[in-house]
Amino acid sequence: MNNDVFNQAVKHLAEPIQAQMHQAFAQHPFSGQIPASIMAQLLPAQLPSLLPFAACFAVTPVSDFNVGALVVGNSGAGYIGANLEFAGQALGQSVHAEQAAINNAWLAQETGIKQLFVNASPCGHCRQFIREVAGQEALTVQVLSQPDRPFAELLPDSFGPQDLGNQQALFQQPTQCFVAVDEPNGEPVGEPIGSPAQYQAIIAEANLSYAPYTGYYHSLGLQTHDEQWFIGRYSENAAYNPSLPALQSALSQLRFAGYGLGDVKTAVLAHRVGQKIDMTNQYKTLLTQLNQLELTVIKLN
Ligand code: THU
Ligand code: ZN
Repeated sequence: MNNDVFNQAVKHLAEPIQAQMHQAFAQHPFSGQIPASIMAQLLPAQLPSLLPFAACFAVTPVSDFNVGALVVGNSGAGYIGANLEFAGQALGQSVHAEQAAINNAWLAQETGIKQLFVNASPCGHCRQFIREVAGQEALTVQVLSQPDRPFAELLPDSFGPQDLGNQQALFQQPTQCFVAVDEPNGEPVGEPIGSPAQYQAIIAEANLSYAPYTGYYHSLGLQTHDEQWFIGRYSENAAYNPSLPALQSALSQLRFAGYGLGDVKTAVLAHRVGQKIDMTNQYKTLLTQLNQLELTVIKLN
């Protein structure tokens, strides 16, 4: 367990909260979540003080511009987010802090989010990403300590899921029932190779992914050298480009726990085959250049 980033980040919090965060994450790595019990002790005006803490998790070799975000889930728990950039890769591989925070809450089985805080004005790409979230009409957005604003004010005349005839929304997506198949017949396979329990966990996350526009449901699991697993899910967007890839979703979670891509030894993609799109090559580009990693693929249908 490497808590260096967490230990540095926590110093930005008020002292009583520091102690509770250390206690909450003494036994297991930091998850990017701030328990509802700790959130409940903060006054609304104190919530922006969590942003410098969140920004410590940013990795910005290109811009040196660290963004921190926080969302409050329907359960009352807080979820931080920070931006990630990848040296030597296309800018389009980056993760924005707001996406990271929303992804964090989504992976934690929240049913939706109530508030977003961020230390820089959310860009157009993030506003479009947020447009896909269930209940976005009621979401409030607060930039630093400025007054909060309804999300709808930040994205007038928006393009959204309904424009493509989609009635689903991120956080309230139906669970899929895909299983691992052997090609070319599309028959279900028996026991998958490797650790069956972990493979089943990755497949379960693929079934919680959100791909209403392409049907390319998938997840991606990363295993560190010290045997921790981080599983990311794909979340698609009506405007396509602001979609968050499953690898980026996993890498963002890995970062909260103090790891980097260099700590990863295994990458497993569980994806639905036979769809109009396929992201295997995009994932291989990032995994190969950054860590010479092979990608194991589980085909689903
Ligand atoms: N960035 C965010 O994380 N959120 C925003 O909405 C504004 C931009 C990040 C992306 C990139 O890593 C850096 O800030 C410079 O644009
Ligand atoms: Zn953005």
